[in-house]
Amino acid sequence: MPERIPLARPSWTDEMRKAAVSTLDSGRWVKGPQGRAFAQEFAEYCGVEFASPCNSGSGALIAALRLLGIGPGDEVIVPSFTFIATATSVSMTGAIPVFAEVEPDYWCLDVEDVKKRITPRTRGIIGVHLFGQCYGTDLIDLCREHNLALIEDAAQAHGASIVYNGVATMAGALGTISCFSFFPSKNVAVGGEGGMITSVDSEIGARIKAIVDHGRDGSLQSQEVGTNMRMSEVFAAIGRVQLKHLDDWLDARRSNAATLSSVIATNPKLEAPQVRPDSGHAWHQYCVQADNIESFIQHMSHHDIDARQIYPVPCHQHAVYNEHRQAGGEFPITSRLSKQLVSIPVHHGLTEVELDRIVKALISY
Ligand SMILES: Cc1ncc(COP(=O)(O)O)c(C=O)c1O
Repeated sequence: MPERIPLARPSWTDEMRKAAVSTLDSGRWVKGPQGRAFAQEFAEYCGVEFASPCNSGSGALIAALRLLGIGPGDEVIVPSFTFIATATSVSMTGAIPVFAEVEPDYWCLDVEDVKKRITPRTRGIIGVHLFGQCYGTDLIDLCREHNLALIEDAAQAHGASIVYNGVATMAGALGTISCFSFFPSKNVAVGGEGGMITSVDSEIGARIKAIVDHGRDGSLQSQEVGTNMRMSEVFAAIGRVQLKHLDDWLDARRSNAATLSSVIATNPKLEAPQVRPDSGHAWHQYCVQADNIESFIQHMSHHDIDARQIYPVPCHQHAVYNEHRQAGGEFPITSRLSKQLVSIPVHHGLTEVELDRIVKALISY
């Protein structure tokens, strides 16, 4: 029996094991050189000046909103089709998430729809680089025009990029403040829960480390409300090793995605995801639009390949938003995607034999 092919397979190598053990052996388990180096190396990778590791992608989003002073009475526009943490992070600050529709082709925020949702209470927009694909740069322009903070939810987009004003710009540098997750299935993981906040803004940069450490400055005085959202030294040490391999892993993900798309193009029952022009997709997820998702998932499962419907419940329809003014709102694209999208394995850990098995299953569907 061949092994079942999982949707994610976090890398765990001797190099990472050694980094973890030597950090434990050092006795410096929190607030040490690994976290500082991880922040610096991650900032360099994204081409930004400021970064701070933290405890999760959700923590990063909440910290980002607090750094921007967003709270009760404020509205923040978020996509209706994303992982729920994008919206609930706004609710956690006491502000109101305002849902907007996504694009039919690339599935990120639809800027025309966003425009209709801006009110005098709007303080910011959380754009999500969904499945590893950057949002359109018209979102950046819109935020500049309206003087709104752009919070980049890059939880799924380590290594993604897009050309902005003629310059290839990395995820992490495409907003006022940006948030990454190191959940085990992500393109970079840390051996547990983790996140990273990055920023290009020097006022935010000056507070970015303090917000995850009780809002304390160098004198250990709390200057603003923060809490313990720090990352452990062991996780930072593992993350540093993973980051060194990210570009090679992206090459593998891109090559796997190209293979899957070329095969899917030959099967009229399936539709491959589209790539935005001038962008570098990070392929955190590869999502197929299937004619009949139950039979497609069953078919892949029969071939011992994990396939999963993704975000079957749009954010505004989660029970937590039953009382939200948009609970019964119409989001036709979101509604269609939530019924049609199936994630199949694309990760950098796929072997040639496994990729071949996936290809054969896609052909025989
Ligand atoms: C788009 C998006 N935002 C936020 C998060 C939250 O990250 P974490 O699970 O690290 O809290 C995730 C994680 O899956 C995500 O995919």
